[in-house]
Amino acid sequence: MKELTDSAKIAFASTFSFYLKSHNFHWNVEGRDFLQYHDLFGKIYEEVYGSIDMFAEQIRGMGAYVPGSLARFTLLSEIDDETAVLDQATMVQELLADNEKLIGILKLVFKKSEENQEFGFSDFIAGRIDAHRKHGWQLRASTKEQP
Ligand SMILES: [Fe+2]
Repeated sequence: MKELTDSAKIAFASTFSFYLKSHNFHWNVEGRDFLQYHDLFGKIYEEVYGSIDMFAEQIRGMGAYVPGSLARFTLLSEIDDETAVLDQATMVQELLADNEKLIGILKLVFKKSEENQEFGFSDFIAGRIDAHRKHGWQLRASTKEQP
C-alpha cells in the first residue's frame, strides 16, 4: 500500500506542477494567435485544477498525508518547472511533452492501484488519464500545419 500512496503523491505533485505551468502559459502567452492559446491553456488549467481537491482527498482516503507545500511539490514532481517566458510554439510543445509524461506517471499509478484492489482510486485515475488524453489531442491539433 505504501508503494501505491508514494507513487500517488508523485502523480499528485506532478499534476499540480502541470496545472501551474498551464496557468503560467495562459498568463504569459503572446503572439498573433494570442486569444486562441490563452483560451486553450485556460481550458486546460481549469480542468486540471478542478481535479486537484479530489486527487488529494483520494490520497487521504487511502490513509496517507497529502503534500501541500511548494517545497514538497518541487521535491516530488516529475514535471520540470518552467521559469522562463517561452514563445507560443515552445509553450505548446513543452506542455504537450509534459502531458505525455504525466499520462505515463498516471498509468503507473493505475497499475499499482489495481494491484492493491483500490478500485475507486483506479476509477479516478482512469478519468485523469482520459482527461489528459483530451488535452494532448487539443494541444497536438492546435500545432498541426494546414496543407
Ligand atoms: Fe485568466
